[in-house]
Amino acid sequence: MHISVIGTGYVGLVTGACFAEFGVDVTCMDRDETRIATLEKGKVPFFEPGLAELVTKNFQAGRLKFTTDLHKAVDDALVIFIAVGTPPQPDGSADLSFVDEVARNVGTRMTGYKVVVTKSTVPVGTAKRIRELIKSNQSQECSFGVVSNPEFLREGSAIEDFMRPNRVVIGADSPEAVAIMKDLYRPLYLLETPIVITDVPTAEVIKYASNVFLATKISFINEMANLCEKVGADVQMVSKGMGLDKRIGNKFLHAGPGFGGSCFGKDTAALINIGEKSGYSMTIAQATKQVNDQQRNRMVDKIVDAVGDLKGKTIGMLGLSFKPNTDDIRDSPALGIAEQLMKAGCTVRAYDPEALTESMKVLPKLVPCRDAYHTVEGVDAVVLVTEWNQFRNLDLDQIKSKAKAPIFIDLRNVYDPPRMQQQGFYYVSVGRKTVGTRPA
Ligand code: UDX
Repeated sequence: MHISVIGTGYVGLVTGACFAEFGVDVTCMDRDETRIATLEKGKVPFFEPGLAELVTKNFQAGRLKFTTDLHKAVDDALVIFIAVGTPPQPDGSADLSFVDEVARNVGTRMTGYKVVVTKSTVPVGTAKRIRELIKSNQSQECSFGVVSNPEFLREGSAIEDFMRPNRVVIGADSPEAVAIMKDLYRPLYLLETPIVITDVPTAEVIKYASNVFLATKISFINEMANLCEKVGADVQMVSKGMGLDKRIGNKFLHAGPGFGGSCFGKDTAALINIGEKSGYSMTIAQATKQVNDQQRNRMVDKIVDAVGDLKGKTIGMLGLSFKPNTDDIRDSPALGIAEQLMKAGCTVRAYDPEALTESMKVLPKLVPCRDAYHTVEGVDAVVLVTEWNQFRNLDLDQIKSKAKAPIFIDLRNVYDPPRMQQQGFYYVSVGRKTVGTRPA
């Protein structure tokens, strides 16, 4: 089978490379010529473990091709995946202009049966809109299927998530389209991956419901953390005690500075917007967003409580990406916090294993550092924001001797409070008791 994937961003490229690995002929299309030229050289323009190898291998095997020609991508394929960006607009709704453009082009170019699949996270009703756009732009009448096949890839483990998903969701408007999609995902059938086959709007809702539910779990535990701080409880143990109940599960109950990344914030805002447009107020999604927005400010308050007036202070920030194992800084809590600190007159020394260069483009006043130990030189406090492995086992004696004051603010609860107290730190974490003596 030959498929095309339109858009070589994160989702598009992982989808294209993984289907090629399944033995499918894949054409990846992007209108960005530089990006396509880079990909043809086997270079992936972002950091995702294993992806560059997969792209190179399948490109060399001739199963993965790249083009900037949308018409060619449409002509070649039986199945066309739309994986273009749907950036949020100021009101939280998704900007669908790229999706619309692809749909119009597919319509103009189509000469035989095709299945058009949305992979990007799109508002409920988008597949219907695509159907109408294709139909009204068709230069010759032919039938086609429209499918919603949402992705659930996590950055940093996207290939594993694609190859061994918990489930595949296929929302289709015809039995022909279902049959073709099932054929495409056959390698996963062999692994007994559950495939949920449903109608198009249901599949579109499943995507939002899943992501916003996970975001809600995080906001819920962050709210519990804030309560724990007030009543002297320990959120790590609360999370453990809750998570052992199989109905609740232990995942996504880690308190911290709030969720970031390209999906949760955007999808929560989009769901609120979809609710408004449909005449239903999404109260839980609104609360999830509100708690998350507040959580970042609370992290800044923690820093102020520990170091006093921020003006003229220096903070050493460990981690800038929105989570470990990615260079992605979109909606990263670390950058939001760094920005607030700098606005209040702080100098922020920072290090991240992958995201430093990108972060410097957004916050050029950050002081870039070589590693964790360089970062903490002469600082009034160390703030750990992203739990990269290399920050989990720091040489604490070295940290203490290099920093000006032994204040350690751990926004990911990586360290053990009694141990940090023993090491002589004033140690602040999230939803747990602060330990040690605050330096005068
Ligand atoms: C997420 C979804 O997991 C994925 O299914 C979807 O397709 C895209 O969005 P991703 O954004 O890559 O994936 O990262 P994820 O690992 O889910 O983490 C999202 C954010 O939540 C990060 O900022 C992370 O630090 C935070 N988080 C996660 C917590 O604060 N606590 C947790 O317990 C889990």
